[in-house]
Amino acid sequence: MSDNVRGPAASGGAPSPAAARGVRVRGATPADVGAVHAIEVASFGDPWPRNAFVALVGEPRVYFPVAELAGAVAGYAMLVVAADEGEITNIAVAPAARRDGIGAILLDRLIDEAARRGARTLYLDVRESNAGARALYASRGFAEAGRRRRYYSAPVEDALSLRLALPAGGD
Ligand SMILES: CC(C)(COP(=O)(O)OP(=O)(O)OC[C@H]1O[C@@H](n2cnc3c(N)ncnc32)[C@H](O)[C@@H]1OP(=O)(O)O)[C@@H](O)C(=O)NCCC(=O)NCCS
Repeated sequence: MSDNVRGPAASGGAPSPAAARGVRVRGATPADVGAVHAIEVASFGDPWPRNAFVALVGEPRVYFPVAELAGAVAGYAMLVVAADEGEITNIAVAPAARRDGIGAILLDRLIDEAARRGARTLYLDVRESNAGARALYASRGFAEAGRRRRYYSAPVEDALSLRLALPAGGD
């Protein structure tokens, strides 16, 4: 299933610049894995291996959307829902496409999808120093729920665990 995004789904308000230019959010396919992994490598010091993405495309418990802009994959995200808890495992936007609203569009999609799949709480981990991502999550209401010491490698750093309560009855 796919559609053209007109504006931030969860937050309302004016369309972001990227949304105004027609970002298309759709489920990832095996053909997207190369582009997704290139963004992963460009975005993280400790990237997931390509095979991890291959294994997760089409996995029913995983929601794995990509954001396409002008026919190219500009970002991706991943959500896992089990019972009434969701976890955002990845979200990244190609460096050249950042600060254009795509990360917010993907995050809003994950929040909507988590609620639709019955999650009541959504979790994620973020590097303490990742001010940009933390600002994005704070803008959607995520609050600090804990700290995982030395959770990340390359470089070693604490993770902050963030939590968002979701409304009951996603749709
Ligand atoms: C975090 C990330 C996904 C954000 O994607 P993006 O498309 O650049 O984000 P958006 O343009 O939608 O930004 C939405 C809001 O988030 C905040 N934000 C995003 N990046 C920011 C930055 N570098 N500095 C400060 N605030 C930032 C701002 O509030 C922004 O709104 P504004 O542009 O109107 O000020 C992107 O920077 C990225 O891929 N980073 C590397 C991977 C990563 O760190 N992922 C998160 C792992 S937990």
